[in-house]
Amino acid sequence: MTENQPGVDVIDVLVSDHRDVTALIGEIWSVKDPMIRRDLADTAISELVRHAVAEEMYVYPVMRKYLDDGDEAVAHDVEEHKELEQTMKELEAAEVSSTEFDGALRRLEELLADHVQDEETEQFPELRRRVPADELSELAGKVETAKKLAPTRPHPGAPNNELFHKLVGPGVGLVDRLRDKLTGRATR
Ligand SMILES: [Fe+2]
Ligand SMILES: [Fe+2]
Repeated sequence: MTENQPGVDVIDVLVSDHRDVTALIGEIWSVKDPMIRRDLADTAISELVRHAVAEEMYVYPVMRKYLDDGDEAVAHDVEEHKELEQTMKELEAAEVSSTEFDGALRRLEELLADHVQDEETEQFPELRRRVPADELSELAGKVETAKKLAPTRPHPGAPNNELFHKLVGPGVGLVDRLRDKLTGRATR
């Protein structure tokens, strides 16, 4: 979506991820059909895992390099990602019409809101001030390339639904399989 657009930097890409995942979670609440709920949850999970891995691989190094409190900011974000991941695992394991699913979805929504708030009000503006613009633009391209290794959107009927399931498969273990795929491929 943002690929090759002049003037788009990695912060734009990550902020747009935040919006997408938040919107997907909102959509899940409004859907009753269990299969669509499952597919939307899998999509939200896979988008959020890709987002977290992209931050870890490409944003943590610039945070450490350019922010005064870079190490602490990274440590804080690592904790947030662990909580998000734990909650995503609960969500993928829960039966879609269960109270466990709703509970996990609610927690994920709250954790994500905290994550978005921290990054968009603190770290991201600071990175924009301190990191050279061309470095931030170059990182946007790297993040977009990394995303292509694990496509999302496993909606029924969506163009890459079949590809998605062939690559990572739905359901339990999704978080770990995606993370392995993204980190394994990208470091090669
Ligand atoms: Fe993060
Ligand atoms: Fe983020």
